[in-house]
Amino acid sequence: MILYKVKDFNDMSNKILEEIINCINIKPDACISFTTGRTTKQLLKDLAFSINGGLNIEQATFCNLDEFVGDPSQEYSVHSFMRKYLYNNINYFPKNIFMLKPDAVDKEAEILRYKNILKDYPRDIQILGLGVNGHIGANEPGTSFEQECFIADSHEETIKSTMELFNLSYDNTPNQMYTMGIKEIMDARCVILAASGFTKAKAVKEVIEGEITSDIPASYLKKHSNFILIVDEAACSLLALK
Ligand code: GLP
Repeated sequence: MILYKVKDFNDMSNKILEEIINCINIKPDACISFTTGRTTKQLLKDLAFSINGGLNIEQATFCNLDEFVGDPSQEYSVHSFMRKYLYNNINYFPKNIFMLKPDAVDKEAEILRYKNILKDYPRDIQILGLGVNGHIGANEPGTSFEQECFIADSHEETIKSTMELFNLSYDNTPNQMYTMGIKEIMDARCVILAASGFTKAKAVKEVIEGEITSDIPASYLKKHSNFILIVDEAACSLLALK
């Protein structure tokens, strides 16, 4: 594990962006897999700025880690998020863009479709945000490390976090997600997990100082040979060694 302790949210976003730019500069046809949420809002905006400023992504593939089951037009969908923060703001597009379909009629067929895409497009970088309970993607505590792409039921802490992020009532908050499993996450050549803010401090401590356990799905990333963890000062605040 390579641990980068950065000052704040901005520095965290800049560090992830730097990793993406380096990767694309070395390998123009790289496959970068994104996640959505608080962690990547700024990153996606800054990436759009870099693309419009000359970062050549025309041979690259962009895909996403997960997607809520439901209506793609809702503000909380990964489709809406990626459009709002990245795709609506760029003048040049990657060769391929892959996302899970939130409203697929045949959910099993959708999972199979995405699994096949993941086989055809090995990820050079998988970006992850850290759930308050240590989840990654929608792989909640208790998920097997062998899990492949599936539909996961969100735990209560995760539903609450989504409610706050999008200002939703409980009844209007999605509680199921398509997600790459831990297995496909681990298949990426490089995995970047980022965390900012005091709300992530407990989970960060468990990942860094704790055992590898399915109670904290992100702890398994320590087994990855190219795992980069980027955390800001607030997210580090509970670590024994600052
Ligand atoms: C959410 C999503 C993930 C996201 C993570 C962290 O539940 N399923 O895609 O990366 O948890 O979210 P946030 O960055 O908003 O804290």
